[in-house]
Order: sequence, then C-alpha cells, then structure tokens
Amino acid sequence: MPRNTKLQSRHLLGLQHVPADDLHLILHWAGHFKEVINRPIKRVPSLRDITIANLFFENSTRTRLSFELAEKRLSADVVNFAASNSSVKKGETLTDTVNNILAMKVDVVVIRHADAGVPQFLADRVPAHIVNAGDGTHEHPTQALLDAFTMQERIGSLEGKNIVIVGDILHSRVALSNIFGLQKLGANVAVSGPSTLIPRAIHELGVEVIPNVDDALAWADVANVLRVQHERMDRAFFPSIREYHNRYGITMDRLKRLEKVPLIMHPGPINRGVELTSEVADSPHAAILNQVENGVAVRMAVLYLLAAQSTTTDVV
Ligand code: CP
Repeated sequence: MPRNTKLQSRHLLGLQHVPADDLHLILHWAGHFKEVINRPIKRVPSLRDITIANLFFENSTRTRLSFELAEKRLSADVVNFAASNSSVKKGETLTDTVNNILAMKVDVVVIRHADAGVPQFLADRVPAHIVNAGDGTHEHPTQALLDAFTMQERIGSLEGKNIVIVGDILHSRVALSNIFGLQKLGANVAVSGPSTLIPRAIHELGVEVIPNVDDALAWADVANVLRVQHERMDRAFFPSIREYHNRYGITMDRLKRLEKVPLIMHPGPINRGVELTSEVADSPHAAILNQVENGVAVRMAVLYLLAAQSTTTDVV
C-alpha cells in the first residue's frame, strides 16, 4: 500500500501548476483504489467524518456520479447541489450560495461551473479544499487524470508516447488539462481537427498541429477524440456535420487503413456518428467505458490525498 500522501497544493484547480511528482502520486493511489473497489466490500473508512459538497452549476452525468460514488466508497458524508433546483434560480450569488453551504461545516467542495476561474475564485475565499470538476473552457483536471490512468493501464508508461487530441480543441477544458498533464508525464502531445477549432497559440504549449486526421492517427499511440461542443459555438466553425464527420470523424474504414491502430478514447458524452462512429466507440479499439470505470478510482485518490492534509485518518 502506498504511504506517501503529500500533495503540494490543498486544492485541485487544474493541472497547469501541478508538479509531475503529484500527478504520479495521484495515479499511484488511483491504482490502489481501483484494487479496493474491485473487492467484494468496496467501502473503506478513509474519509469518515469528512463532509463533501458536490456543487454542479452545469449539467453532468459521468463526473457528478463518479465523484459521488468515490465519496461514498471512502465513507464521506455527501451533500449534492444542482443549480437548476436551488435558490440560485431566485438570484442568490455564487459567494452567498457557497458560504451558506460552508456554514454547514463542509470540508471539501467539488465544483462544476460554466465560467472559467470559479474554482480559483472559491479557493481564494473559502477554507475548504476545492476540486475543479470542470470550469468553462478552462480545465477539467480529474478527467485528464483518469484519461492518463487509462492510457497507462493500456499502453504502459507515457514517457515518449505519442498522443493526439482530435476535434474541438478550442471549446474544450479536457484538451487543456490533457495537454498539461500528459506532457508532465513525458508524452508527446499533438492536436488534429479543423483549423477553426484549434487555438492559434497552441504551439506556445509545445503542442504540434497535425491537420490531416489520417496522418495524426498514423503517428499516435493514443487518440483522445473530443466532442464537438455545439452549445459553446456562437457561429459556424465548419460547413456541416456531414463534412466534419467525413474529414475528421473516426471510422472503422480509417482505422483499417492504419498499420497500427491507436487506442481510441473519448471523455463523453459522445456525439455518435459525428466525431466517431458507434462501430468504433463500441469496438475493442476503444477504452471509453474503461475511462468511466477508472474515474471513480482516480477521484477517490484525489479526494483522499486532499483530505489527508487535514486528517490523520489512514486508508484501509
Ligand atoms: N466527461 C465529462 O465531464 O462528462 P460529464 O459532462 O457527463 O460529466
């Protein structure tokens, strides 16, 4: 069982400033918790007496359920908040909402919000540990951690491996967290997709652009395919869905032309028939449900390591 539990920061706001050692530590503990949740008795008392609030100001299926399950597996007390049925609808501010929740003695806040920077805003103002569950187009650190964990499980160490992120990079918080995290783990990261959906400054992050998706797939050990985020598009970024699919969609025909098929990943939710076909998504080439499974173990590791900074409780 790993013993080191020392993270540099008391929050997880993004991966940009997380040292590589902390990423390795989280992934190491995630491996331990994956073993725990595959035991007949999946619950451990590690976070007994710790209260965690899940504040979701934006829709979520995977992240919300995964955090809640992780918290329950660790025996934390859990309160859930969804903006859609809260007093936010009556005009209550974010700060008032959070202060009211903290007055109930909450130790950890997991927050998803449509605005970039909200987790940092809270971390600057409230005494709880803050975990970013996705903020606007900024970062989604636990998604990138579970992506990295899944890649390591499937292809081993990421040192020197080629990973391409395909699709709507511009509107994606997953892309940025993947880039920061994967580079720190030693991977070469490239992006591929329509030039209108690739930020102009992407080179400044040390990321190569491979415009042709077939070239990108031939280069890659892993292709992390992203959703076309229609809800964040205020204008047309490509002529039509059909054209997008023809030029950038991952199909079995495309994969059959490759000498070596990369591992196909997707953070979900999938637009089936747009960024990838059902045939690919449901094939052995894809690790999409492994990603979801690993999300629970990775979030257990993050919550445990953050809470370990203010408790003497040990893992079982
Ligand atoms: N991958 C992800 O963040 O999915 P949800 O929006 O369903 O949480």
